[in-house]
Amino acid sequence: MTILDDLLQNNKSIKNIVILSGAGVSAESGIRTFRDSNGLWEDHSIEEVATPEAFQKNPKLVHNFYNQRRKQLLSSEVNFNKAHQIITEIEDSNLYNIVVITQNVDDLHERSGTKNVIHMHGELLKTKCTSCNISSPIDSDLNTLSICSQCNEKGTLRPDIVWFGEMPYQLNEIETYLNSADLFLSIGTSGQVYPAAMFVSTTPSECIKLEINIEKTNISNQFDYSIQDSSSKGMEILKNYLLPQK
Ligand code: OAD
Repeated sequence: MTILDDLLQNNKSIKNIVILSGAGVSAESGIRTFRDSNGLWEDHSIEEVATPEAFQKNPKLVHNFYNQRRKQLLSSEVNFNKAHQIITEIEDSNLYNIVVITQNVDDLHERSGTKNVIHMHGELLKTKCTSCNISSPIDSDLNTLSICSQCNEKGTLRPDIVWFGEMPYQLNEIETYLNSADLFLSIGTSGQVYPAAMFVSTTPSECIKLEINIEKTNISNQFDYSIQDSSSKGMEILKNYLLPQK
């Protein structure tokens, strides 16, 4: 009997599954994580491109950075991977109530078909107007002269990304999901960014807490068990417990 057998074999008591996903889930789709290369994200420090101050100081650089990320996301090289796919299969089974709270700004969970996704850190394929505050879909480049499709103001658009120092989206809704979680699954996140890093400690004491990561994180000790493997291999293992064997 393994630790996972012990935790999941009698899974009839698991109804509500909350998945927290991070950059490690998209890594196998070819999107680089934030902290895996000496704290640089595609050769930029996070402070240089992911704070409101950075945008104020150098909007052109920040726009260019997110334009590149958007282009990469929309290129034929990037698509969802096995981990996204298994999450979708689990949702589609209708055996559980499942929510994916993602820190990722890509749309790979949706592309694989997952429906209940919360983008707590915003979305690359959205822009937000600093004048009318409305968020709208975007698939092309933004610049300092772009016009808001909602209020027609010029030069007021920013990437709809939650930068450091800003409030993540839908925290009340997230709290409600966490409070009723039977299984909390943290996949491919370093546990270095709050409040996401403290979600595990917000779940009920009887909730089963599992982590999938290629390495130990600084919050691994808060989980009942950590699968030290890639997101896709980790999800293959969990699928065997959560879905009926074909
Ligand atoms: P990080 O880059 O901090 O962490 C990625 C994690 O994924 C690390 O712990 C890696 O060990 C793990 N990892 C890498 N490849 C993996 C794989 N194939 N399978 C499983 N795990 C793998 O990314 P996040 O934790 O998502 O915020 O970062 C959180 C937030 O910090 C991001 O949403 C972003 C960033 O600054 C904003 O943009 C606001």
